[in-house]
Amino acid sequence: MIVRRGSALCLREFRVSSSIKSSGQVSYELRGDVAVMTVSNAPVNALSLAIRQDLVARIKQFEEDEAAKVAVIVGEGKVFIAGADIREFKRPATEPHLPDVIDGIEACTKPVIAAIHGVALGGGLEVALGCHFRVGVKGAKVGLPEVHLGIIPGAGGTQRLPRLAGYEKALEMIPSGAPIGADAAKAAGILDDVSDEADAVAAGLAFARSVIDNGTPLRRCSELVAPAVDAQVFADAKAAVAKRARGQKSPVVCVEAIEVASQTSFADGMAKEREMFMELKNSAQHRALAHAFFADRALGKLPEIEGIAPRTLKSIGVIGGGTMGAGIATGALMNGLSVTLIERDDEALGRAKATIAKNVGGAVKKGKLSAEQEQRIFDKALSLSTDYASLSEVDLVVEAVFEDIDVKKQVFEKLDAVCKEGAVLATNTSYLDVNAIAAVTKRPQDVIGLHFFSPAHIMKLLEVVVADKTAPDVIATGFQLGKIMRKIAVRAGVCDGFIGNRILATYRAAADAIVVDGSTPFEVDDVMLEFGFPMGPYAVADLAGLDIGWATRKRKAPTRDPRERYFTFADRMCEQGWFGQKTSKGYYVYEDGARKGTPNPAVLDILTEERKEKQINAQNLSKEQILDRYMAAMVNEAAKVVEEGIALRPLDVDMTLIYGYGFPRWRGGPMQYADEIGLEKILSNIKAYAEEDGYFWQPAKLLEELVASGRSFADLNAESGNNSAAKKHENA
Ligand code: CAA
Ligand code: NAI
Repeated sequence: MIVRRGSALCLREFRVSSSIKSSGQVSYELRGDVAVMTVSNAPVNALSLAIRQDLVARIKQFEEDEAAKVAVIVGEGKVFIAGADIREFKRPATEPHLPDVIDGIEACTKPVIAAIHGVALGGGLEVALGCHFRVGVKGAKVGLPEVHLGIIPGAGGTQRLPRLAGYEKALEMIPSGAPIGADAAKAAGILDDVSDEADAVAAGLAFARSVIDNGTPLRRCSELVAPAVDAQVFADAKAAVAKRARGQKSPVVCVEAIEVASQTSFADGMAKEREMFMELKNSAQHRALAHAFFADRALGKLPEIEGIAPRTLKSIGVIGGGTMGAGIATGALMNGLSVTLIERDDEALGRAKATIAKNVGGAVKKGKLSAEQEQRIFDKALSLSTDYASLSEVDLVVEAVFEDIDVKKQVFEKLDAVCKEGAVLATNTSYLDVNAIAAVTKRPQDVIGLHFFSPAHIMKLLEVVVADKTAPDVIATGFQLGKIMRKIAVRAGVCDGFIGNRILATYRAAADAIVVDGSTPFEVDDVMLEFGFPMGPYAVADLAGLDIGWATRKRKAPTRDPRERYFTFADRMCEQGWFGQKTSKGYYVYEDGARKGTPNPAVLDILTEERKEKQINAQNLSKEQILDRYMAAMVNEAAKVVEEGIALRPLDVDMTLIYGYGFPRWRGGPMQYADEIGLEKILSNIKAYAEEDGYFWQPAKLLEELVASGRSFADLNAESGNNSAAKKHENA
């Protein structure tokens, strides 16, 4: 069959014939003198063992097929190939290994073309780099995102890409893992052409025709020589990448692997790349990041909303235009929703509008939003009002007024009176009882908690707090709002602080005990910075405002258990008017409005006073001891949160801490970290600390059960019925 460029007939024929598969998952079809190999492994054509085996077989078939002059590799479905099959990484590597498969493609004596649509990522791009030519359709993206999984490209990416596109491009793409679009890839020399054809098969066939007609010689990336660069380029890149990586190894190793390409032959470079790849693949960092990859995808897979459609969601109301309300409104507006914002008076409305304008303007400056979108927001999408009746037609309302149960109840009574039937009524409360709030309405099934984090238009996390009577389609709508606003939505149950703030309160209490018992807040912060948090807990407290914790402590004072150790140093700081950054003084001193402070020595005097009063002999904990206590408190409370069903699975806790509290992703969250350390060790630490403070250090029953049965949090993730992604991963 002769294939004509752009022939609709050919495309139709191909679609029909592509459904006739050879055994295996890479089909081979002769289209005139072009062999079309289609990789099919839904949903993303990951390079599983079967695919690798088939690719080897198809390349051999092509070499032997005298009728085939050129081969085109394409992917079936929505992408070319999204990389290695990450689920296989837990098993020992099985032959044929991907680097060998790709070497086989490159060694072919006849031209092989990769025709890319959707994405070519990781091993997918490496397959394409092993081909002699690459053509992309418009909208295609290519990238090497392995760094996000704690590894480096392991099938020649670090050796072929710099040879093809130069060291600087490789240094830009590989340590960041960021994909680039087809046009940029062509400009960088990664794609030979960006086709106007709508379909990758047509694009590949057209390119094949031109190769045949022009007799274009084969071009093997491994044989190219990239223009030399000064060794300083690598040293600078390593320093910059290490600073950003905050303890994650793979970005730095990416740079080192690219540097190897500049120093040695292709074959030696490949051997070295493999060595570096295998070392990272066997690391805790890779296990943590692979866990995070699958956990991200498992978060919204909940039995209670499976197959449940969300309610209509086009317009929302926001009550209160303070810190949170203005941020929530900004996030909603920037993602195409209409917003009606309610405040108490015109002055407050003016302030809210100014904050939104500042936020939106900032997004325009950063190129995240166009000037036209900004215009539309203020001309059409945003309405401001002091009258609750303006909310009569909105699909969902988020209340973000003061954290006071009586105020919130009044607001919900009004909402119940004015909102249309079926409107979702949400509260952004940080700690208060969503059931109590729902109970003041005649429609508790429509009430839910939607707990955003500050700044709400930037922070990724959204806790979807499900109350006793919340209807499944209201939960689905909460997740849908998260999707629209590009948040990471985590399901949480009702308790004081839900998942995140409840766990935070506990590890902060542990930190306070560490400090009163002899360490300094600055030591604790340093340990947590070294661990990988962007800020230590005391620097965070300064940022959030020490007055908030002070108010909470006062509120809880009447119900405080007498067995609880109570510390006064933070109250004494607040009594001096030290509220953190906003007053230029807290645990740190912020000279001239600086965002990064220097330790406030007066805090140490206050601590000494408290120790004296309580007759505490200061003990000098090592960094490791500080870390162990801090993490044990976090893990123990997290286990209680799972045990009580506040978090459905350990992975929900992990993602909450990662997206809302700065827990380093490369450690996978507290539960994943605990699994790596060993639950037995964590539990024995807790029991040892309990000898000093038995009230605070009560081991979670779940932790005890897991240790007794020799199971891990990962086992719990895998056992949770609907967690298909994690399950497949854990079982792999
Ligand atoms: N291996 C195994 N499963 C994968 C996968 C992979 N490489 N990529 C995606 N999946 C799975 C997801 O887990 C998900 O499964 P469930 O439906 O069971 O949850 C399914 O494919 C669909 O994925 P998404 O929900 O992410 O779909 P999307 O359309 O939003 O995004 C994508 C598609 C852009 C390809 C995205 O999935 C992605 O970025 N995948 C990972 C790409 C990657 O990291 N590749 C490098 C792999 S490592 C490598 O290649 C090493 C090497 O050098 C050899
Ligand atoms: P804020 O004090 O900055 O803003 C509250 C706003 O609500 C004020 O502008 C006030 O005028 C307005 N308001 C009060 N009563 C009202 C009423 N009856 N009708 C209309 N408007 C009214 O408070 P913030 O920080 O924005 O907090 C709001 C809610 O969000 C609280 O429940 C808080 O716990 C929660 N939250 C706060 C976070 C934070 O970091 N600040 C993080 C997550 C949740």
